[in-house]
Amino acid sequence: MVNKKNKKKYKSLWSGRFTRSNSEIMQTINSSISFDKRLYMKDIEASIAHCKMLAMKNIITKTEGKKIIEGLLAIEKEIKTNKMVFKDELEDIHTHIEIRLIELIGSTAKKLHTARSRNDQVATDTRLWVREEIDNCDKLLSNLQQVLLDKAEKHYADIMPGFTHLQCAQPITLGHHLLAYVEMLGRDRTRFKDTRVRLNESPLGAAAIAGTTFNINRDFTASELGFSKPMSNSIDSVSDRDFIIETLSVCNITSIHLSRLAEELVLWSSAGFNFIQLPDSFSTGSSIMPQKRNPDAAELVRGKAGRILGNLVSLSSVLKGLPLAYSKDMQEDKEPLFDSIDNLQISLEVMTGMVNDINFNIKEMHAMADKGYSTATDLADWLVRELKIPFRDAHNITGKIVALAEKSKRKLSNLSLKEMQAIEKRINKEVFNILDIRSSVNAKKSFGGTSPLNVMQSIKLYKNKWL
Ligand code: ARG
Repeated sequence: MVNKKNKKKYKSLWSGRFTRSNSEIMQTINSSISFDKRLYMKDIEASIAHCKMLAMKNIITKTEGKKIIEGLLAIEKEIKTNKMVFKDELEDIHTHIEIRLIELIGSTAKKLHTARSRNDQVATDTRLWVREEIDNCDKLLSNLQQVLLDKAEKHYADIMPGFTHLQCAQPITLGHHLLAYVEMLGRDRTRFKDTRVRLNESPLGAAAIAGTTFNINRDFTASELGFSKPMSNSIDSVSDRDFIIETLSVCNITSIHLSRLAEELVLWSSAGFNFIQLPDSFSTGSSIMPQKRNPDAAELVRGKAGRILGNLVSLSSVLKGLPLAYSKDMQEDKEPLFDSIDNLQISLEVMTGMVNDINFNIKEMHAMADKGYSTATDLADWLVRELKIPFRDAHNITGKIVALAEKSKRKLSNLSLKEMQAIEKRINKEVFNILDIRSSVNAKKSFGGTSPLNVMQSIKLYKNKWL
């Protein structure tokens, strides 16, 4: 029994050729149990598949197979109900389970490790774990797309300033702005999906590096575990961590998207913008300034993008320059992986809650869009379309009209026809139809443009595609 009362020293699984046990500090650096215990369900699942195959191929007897599987299921229950005590001296989750199995069912347990190694075992467990978490990320991404689509639908025609260089550029619809994030998250989902397809091959049966002398059936274990096929090269099977780097990379890109949205929420909730009212559910007060409402949740999502990038850099640095095949350095893959997945998932959940609860101050957005001559481009376009003036000249004329309006602190639509004609005599009263921001957004009907009509059409398409 692996528990606190029992003080017995465990021999490591590889103690055969050693005469003395490891120093304590060696056990500490060597141990991964504090974090890799998260893999226990996958380790047991993979061991059961391996055991079934050993019995099927008569490498162990059917009775032995049955006994091992019952033992593994009992261990799963023990871990689930927190009955297992984890110890550094037992290194990792694989060893804990194997030692416990020996305690439970006796020496039959020692046959489970036939034709496998911890090298293919850990690769298999981790692939299974990542596969499941990718599915969870996909669900969370789709939830966020859902709330963005709901808000976009509600605000499909509401006008806000579109920024370039964070300067008021052109009026856009809020719906259109939100849909930009639906696009980004959609690409993230396809990246996760691609990663999932590539990682879904089974390393199990590669053993330590070279394969095995036993007549195993790798197709069977692959299909038992839901993999599309066994990996073709045993050396690659145990040394490849591309699938983790790829996952960390997709986590990184996704978190960059979340961070940009978070930054907008921070900006928009500040007094200078006042575009949104942050919900109580996702903001905090100040311990000294009673008036404050801080966008902590958004800031944390923005901050987490930093560590998620760090994790990608961390594992990439561990792997670069590692010779084939397995080296213990690779044990360093798990903490960055777990950390990125955990932090991405909480970021997605928080962002979904925040977007769902936000109230947009439509009036403020509209008012800012109306400032800053944001329809100047519409005027230039009109000069080109209606008066056949080449665009570069139209740009110049418009510049002069904007300068005039600026000097007298008026909107373009408040200039008189006479004043405009003094700059370009062919301008006629039709020009007033295109100077306000509402006509401006309505007219942006080109494919992918910001018009409310486009936004509605896109929402329909996105709902079909993503939800
Ligand atoms: N805990 C190890 C890891 O995560 C398992 C594989 C150990 N393999 C070995 N040859 N020591 O990498």
